[in-house]
Amino acid sequence: MNILILGGGGREHALAWAVMQNPKCDKLIVAPGNAGIAAIAECASFDVEDGDAVVGFAAENAIDFVIIGPEAPLAAGVADRLRGAGILCFGPSAAAAQLEASKAFTKMICDASGAPTAAYAHFTEAEPARAYIRDQGAPIVVKADGLAAGKGVIVAMSEAEALDAIDDMFGGAFGGAGAEVVIEEFMEGEEASFFILCDGKNILPLGTAQDHKRVGEGDLGPNTGGMGAYSPAPVMTDEITAKAIAEIVQPTVDEMARRGTPYQGVLYAGFMIKDGQPRLVEYNCRFGDPECQVLMMRLGAQALDLLQACAEGRLDQIQATWAEDHAITVVMAAEGYPGDYAKGSVIKGLEALEGDSLNMVFHAGTKRVDGKITANGGRVLNVTARGNTLQEARDRAYATLERIDWPEGFSRSDIGWRAL
Ligand code: AMP
Ligand code: GLY
Repeated sequence: MNILILGGGGREHALAWAVMQNPKCDKLIVAPGNAGIAAIAECASFDVEDGDAVVGFAAENAIDFVIIGPEAPLAAGVADRLRGAGILCFGPSAAAAQLEASKAFTKMICDASGAPTAAYAHFTEAEPARAYIRDQGAPIVVKADGLAAGKGVIVAMSEAEALDAIDDMFGGAFGGAGAEVVIEEFMEGEEASFFILCDGKNILPLGTAQDHKRVGEGDLGPNTGGMGAYSPAPVMTDEITAKAIAEIVQPTVDEMARRGTPYQGVLYAGFMIKDGQPRLVEYNCRFGDPECQVLMMRLGAQALDLLQACAEGRLDQIQATWAEDHAITVVMAAEGYPGDYAKGSVIKGLEALEGDSLNMVFHAGTKRVDGKITANGGRVLNVTARGNTLQEARDRAYATLERIDWPEGFSRSDIGWRAL
C-alpha cells in the first residue's frame, strides 16, 4: 500500500512512525514533513490545502491511502476532493469538519442531539454580545467561531477581560474566524480528551489522554498548543467513558449522519468532568498534537489497520488491542514560545538516541540545515515514552530529554503531575 500523510508536525511524525511499522505499508510519503520524518519517509512539498494539488500528487504517485493530519486541509475540503477522485482517505469532509471549524455549529449539534455542554449564546455583532456579558457576569468564556490556530478561546475571569475579547474579535484580531462569536458559561472540573474513530455509522473508541496547555510549571502562564500529554487519562473511568459515548459522542455521530453529513475520521472530544458527569468543551476533527504521539506510541503498527478500516467503513469489523500500558510525551519548545521565538538554533544529541517501541523523539518543528538538525518552530521536539506505569514512562522520557543538547530550548519538568 502506498500511503500519503499530509502535515509536518509531531502528530504526523508519530503517525508516520506507526504506519511504517505495518508490513502493509510499501511506500510512505509525507507532505511537507520535517527533519525527523525525513529520516523514515520520503517528504514532498506542495500546498496540502489545495485539493487539486493533493489529488494530482496522489494520482501521480499511485497513492492508495491518504491520511490527513491537520484541520486546515480538512476544513478546506481536501478529503471531499480525494474521495471524489476515488482515492481512499482518512479524515472528515468539509461539512463534517465544521465540528471543529465552527463553534456555533457544534453548539447547534449539541442542541439537536441533547449532548450536555456549557450554556451559550451566539453573536454576529459586538453590542448584543457586550450586553450579554454584562448580564451574565464573569467568569465567562468568549470564543471566536472559526479556526484560530488554538488562540480563539478567552477564558475571562473578569467582565472587563471578556469585553476586551469582544473588542478584539469583532475588531478583526482573529480575521474571519472572529466575525461570529460564541459566549459560553464557564465550566469547572477536570479536562480530558477522548479520541474516537467514526466511519460515518460505527464508532471505535481509540483512547483517552490529558494534555498540559499552559506553558509554565503547575499549569500556569499563557496557553500553548500543548506542552505535554499522557495516555490514558485516569479521570476517564469506564463509567464516565460509557456516559460520554452514550450522551455525547454517539448522539453527535447520529445527528451528523441524519443531516446527510456523516462524520468519517477521528473525532477528538474535549470534556469537562465534574461529579462524574462529562460535558462537551469542544470537538476537533483530527488527532490532537501532542496527544496523537502518546496514542501512536501505545497503538504501534495496528494504527494503520484501524485508520484504514475507518476510511473503508468497516469499524464494526475491527478492534484495537490495548496493552495495560501508559505513554507520555514532553514537548521541547523554543525559548520564548508561545510568544516570539527564534528559529535556526542547532539541536545536538539526537543522533545518539535510538528510537524503539518504548522511547521515541518525535520531531514537531525541525529542519535539516547543512547536515544539522535545527529548530524550525515554537514546539520543536516531543520526547515520548511508554511504560507499565505512568511513572515508568515519565522517568524514561525525562531520561531521554536529559541527553538532548539544545540550550535554546525549554520544557516543563512536571508533565503528568495531575495523574501522579
Ligand atoms: P477550546 O479551544 O474550545 O478547547 O478551548 C481551549 C480551552 O479553554 C479548553 O481546553 C478549556 O481549558 C478552556 N475552555 C473552553 N471552553 C470552556 C468553558 N466553557 N468553561 C471552562 N473552560 C473552557
Ligand atoms: N493539544 C491540543 C490540540 O491538538 O488541539
